[in-house]
Amino acid sequence: MTQALTPTTTLPGTGLHDHPAILKRILDSYALPPNGTHGIRHWLRVMENGLRIARVTGGDEEVVALFGLFHDSRRINDYQDSGHGLRGGDFASELRGTLVHLSGDQFDRLHEACRLHTKGLITEDPTIGACWDADRLDLGRVGITPDPGLLCTSAARELIPWAHERARRDHDPRKD
Ligand SMILES: [Fe+2]
Repeated sequence: MTQALTPTTTLPGTGLHDHPAILKRILDSYALPPNGTHGIRHWLRVMENGLRIARVTGGDEEVVALFGLFHDSRRINDYQDSGHGLRGGDFASELRGTLVHLSGDQFDRLHEACRLHTKGLITEDPTIGACWDADRLDLGRVGITPDPGLLCTSAARELIPWAHERARRDHDPRKD
């Protein structure tokens, strides 16, 4: 890990998980540059996007926060890396009981959200929907404006202006 985390990194609204420790564990074996397109700033923006959505929709904040950290954690390239979502979910599975503390139902949602997050799907599940929308709200970092019709939740649609502005300038949530 190349950058210290400050307490403000963090990850409002959750208390069960040690997110800085999880982030360190991920970065210890992350294959790509930590500050790259799919790296830490993206993960933390996705986390915050997801928490804001979940607070409105009733999605599971513990799951949504972990999605932000894990969904791209096992990428091996910044392009078409099929299978990276599944690998991210499987990596979270390896850490169950040490750094990841979810019930079976919660973990199943986290794993499904990671596995399918690049498929362009829509869901009515408020937790998985918050995860996918959170990631889609960050497309501005690669020059893409989120399409409201491809989002799962109205909460995310309302967040587009705020989240897209942060994505476009590659905002670092550690500096909030
Ligand atoms: Fe992502």
